[in-house]
Amino acid sequence: MEFLPLHFDLKERRCLVVGDQDIATRKADLLRRAGAVVLLNSIQPCDSLQELASHANVSLISEPFHPGLLEDVELVVAASEDSALNRRVSEAARKLHLPVNVVEEPALSSFIFPSIIDRSPIIVSVSSGAQIPVLTRLLRSRLESLIPHAYGRLALVASEFRERVKETLPHQNQRRRFWESVLEGKIADLVLGGREGKARQEIEKALTVSEASSPIGEVYLVGAGPGDPDLLTFKALRLMRQADVVLYDRLVAPEILDLVRRDAERINVGKERSRHTLPQEEINELLVNLARQGKRVLRLKGGDPFIFGRGGEEIDRLADAGIPFQVVPGISAANGCAAYAGIPLTHRDYSQSVRFITGHLKDNSISLPWQEFVQEHQTLVFYMGLQGLPEICRQLMAHGMRPEMPIALVSQGTTRFQKVLTSTLQEMPLVLEQQEVRPPTLIIIGEVVKLRTKLAWLD
Ligand SMILES: C[S@@+](CC[C@H](N)C(=O)[O-])C[C@H]1O[C@@H](n2cnc3c(N)ncnc32)[C@H](O)[C@@H]1O
Repeated sequence: MEFLPLHFDLKERRCLVVGDQDIATRKADLLRRAGAVVLLNSIQPCDSLQELASHANVSLISEPFHPGLLEDVELVVAASEDSALNRRVSEAARKLHLPVNVVEEPALSSFIFPSIIDRSPIIVSVSSGAQIPVLTRLLRSRLESLIPHAYGRLALVASEFRERVKETLPHQNQRRRFWESVLEGKIADLVLGGREGKARQEIEKALTVSEASSPIGEVYLVGAGPGDPDLLTFKALRLMRQADVVLYDRLVAPEILDLVRRDAERINVGKERSRHTLPQEEINELLVNLARQGKRVLRLKGGDPFIFGRGGEEIDRLADAGIPFQVVPGISAANGCAAYAGIPLTHRDYSQSVRFITGHLKDNSISLPWQEFVQEHQTLVFYMGLQGLPEICRQLMAHGMRPEMPIALVSQGTTRFQKVLTSTLQEMPLVLEQQEVRPPTLIIIGEVVKLRTKLAWLD
């Protein structure tokens, strides 16, 4: 992050703006609207600056800039056409440790002005760290159309009840849930539709109901997909935004974890490096205990929770304990890797069925019904099969599969590090020896792998 967005309280604070043209007017006007006392240092003020100077709390200083003008000032903006003057203003302000902005000169600035969407008291600021202002403006206009103008009124109505809610609902979780239902549901619609009186009545009602109900937790068992955050479902994202605590393991990409509510507690139940993984029974108990504390618990899993994810065991325990839960499917590694590698898992001409298999090695062997796998027009997908790959190839050939059957190994599928190796059953173990392949990896075996030559679309 080049610049940290902070919202300043400038009421009654003296701010100096140096410059003669419209750009100085725009900055000065923003400061004025934020309640600042604005000193305009301008020798030849343009018309708009002169007009601005007629407002209360704005005064014009018509003398050349000198550091003495910074006395008692708390924030400085250099918006002159004269870059040497801007530099002098910046240096003088920095000497006094005053926050300074030089228009279009981030290197001379200690703060920058973001694009603002003003729904006071709600303020949204968008910035590209002064790198690509056009993109910032485009984003801002999109957000403008997304955020109703009445959002500010909604915030004001809600703030009238803030203290009451605090007194009535002692638990933070209760309060959070109460506000989420008020700010997203019918009450919000009433305010946005201009019916604030009715909205107030409804808030009163909702408060009485919330006070009477005890906080019960819930568990969301959510599939986070194979890696690309864009493959999350809307439902997954919504629950990720409202959870109080998240239990995740190593397959969940950091970019996805970043989308979880910022102040949610994060518990890593599978640290890859130390090979420390919480035993499944302990994860199950943790889910139950956290939900019993009234928390909304997000159990975030790579891919789909019901495909080699042990999600079934977790909700089994929750069902026994009477804890409410929801399951959100995710795109499994098989779908994700196949799509991003350009390998359709089924195809009218090559494969009419697909099998998902675990290739996990146990005591250096894999006990599987190999004979069933050796069929024409079938695609095999092995999860967790990297270590066992030579054994998988050997067994399939030993049970009659053609040595030239195409095979693909997809590493870190759907992420920007995705790599795809293709070969034949016979050759792949040798190919693998000459490559450095990073987990997680998925193996796809079948005629469909040939289609990749034509259908690969991702670089
Ligand atoms: C314990 S299983 C979990 C599978 C997960 N529930 C799913 O539906 O994808 C872990 C295995 O999934 C596969 N896997 C998960 N993400 C992957 C990815 N991005 N690329 C390749 N394989 C992946 C690997 O075979 C890995 O060893």
